[in-house]
Amino acid sequence: MAAPKKLFIKTYGCQMNVYDSERMAEAMGAQGYVTTEKAEEADMILLNTCHIREKASEKVYSELGRLKPLKALNPDLKIGIAGCVAQAEGEEIMRRAPVVDLVVGPQSYHRLPAMEARVRAGERALETEFPAEDKFDHLPKRPLPNRAPAAFLTVQEGCDKFCAFCVVPYTRGAEVSRPAARIMGEARDLVERGVREITLLGQNVNAYHGAAEGGTWSLARLIRELAEIDGLERIRFTTSHPNDMDDELVAAHGDCAKLMPYLHLPVQSGSDRILKAMNRKHTAADYLRLIERLRAARPDLMLSGDFIVGFPGETDEDFEATLDLVRAVGYGQAYSFKYSARPGTPAAERPGVSAEVADDRLQRLQALLLEQQRATQASMVGREVSVLFEKPGRLPGQMVGKSEYLHAVHVTADVAVGEIARVRIIESGPNSLAGALA
Ligand code: SAH
Ligand code: SF4
Ligand code: F3S
Repeated sequence: MAAPKKLFIKTYGCQMNVYDSERMAEAMGAQGYVTTEKAEEADMILLNTCHIREKASEKVYSELGRLKPLKALNPDLKIGIAGCVAQAEGEEIMRRAPVVDLVVGPQSYHRLPAMEARVRAGERALETEFPAEDKFDHLPKRPLPNRAPAAFLTVQEGCDKFCAFCVVPYTRGAEVSRPAARIMGEARDLVERGVREITLLGQNVNAYHGAAEGGTWSLARLIRELAEIDGLERIRFTTSHPNDMDDELVAAHGDCAKLMPYLHLPVQSGSDRILKAMNRKHTAADYLRLIERLRAARPDLMLSGDFIVGFPGETDEDFEATLDLVRAVGYGQAYSFKYSARPGTPAAERPGVSAEVADDRLQRLQALLLEQQRATQASMVGREVSVLFEKPGRLPGQMVGKSEYLHAVHVTADVAVGEIARVRIIESGPNSLAGALA
């Protein structure tokens, strides 16, 4: 038998890409490919790309420059571009980069095996339509070996919100929810393979409304049904839009024990004027009221968010309003970005703020967010948390896992991967906590 062909996938961008990369590896596995961590030994390289900001996008071309010499070493090497840059700039990539053999958009991954065959026959292949069939129905069932205890599961894709700065509605297409029964089946399979925690994914996950027997399930309903699966101990979901956070979902944070007390709820800005210009369709006060309701349901809820500074038209006053909102919420952790004008989005037409001003605002915002993150982490010392152990740590005898609040926790103890244990936090480091079994 010939040695199996090797597949190297490099993943950029959000968790949905991480999930998609796993599914692509599985699809290629059915074609006789095994994955490798080394690009040099691969017979096929896939870059699963992100288009969200200019910097993310540019990485594709610089990575292609680095990979090109590998083709001279291995004439059978094929290079493919997947993900959101493939969707947005597929034809341009084909023109600009002859080194690329195939381009596949995020909704066409089920076509990858057929594309691989065409490419092996000497063609170049491009698939970036939004096909009528659901890629997940046409991807192979997930294979059997045991898996890491925490897994992603995409339940919803695409977005109809059209925030003025964002490419996602163009790269991922319209909002689509997967049927509830498919998700339940995939979740049960994952649990059978050792998964204890599932993070439900969607660009707009809380807008989930999946077809189910006897009607449609909301995200809250889906979470409650998943919580009934024996052996599944933890459920998370990301990313949510404030306007889709309905009463049922708020309530689930209070009464569904398996739903973890950590919520990523991006607000982007604290200024009503900017929120309006961003087409976010809510005010800062709406967001703060929502946080209040969530905390009433689950007082220890840890919040995370996303912020954009330097959006076109943002004044000092607007930026101060963002800092005020951050102070009012108190985030456990958050991401902040300098606005990046993306081709084809409405905001790209508007005059931006200067790079110096944006840099300065980003620094000030990040300093505040870091201060909140450190304070939150420090406040964990002396508390007891539950930890799902995911892998051995760097020190002998050490294990690393995640608390319910998504903090990395190091413990030196005789515990197995996949075990959940109560841990008393002893120390707070820059990026993680250390504790001992309680
Ligand atoms: N669906 C999610 C976000 C997807 S993109 C949501 O609606 O919240 C992840 C984050 O990238 C966004 O929350 C936003 O903060 C940031 N982002 C998106 N487009 C951007 C742009 N053009 N410039 C800078 N940051 C951007
Ligand atoms: Fe982009 Fe807005 Fe949709 Fe999030 S809600 S993916 S920011 S358009
Ligand atoms: Fe990037 Fe596409 Fe995700 S643009 S953030 S990889 S949806």
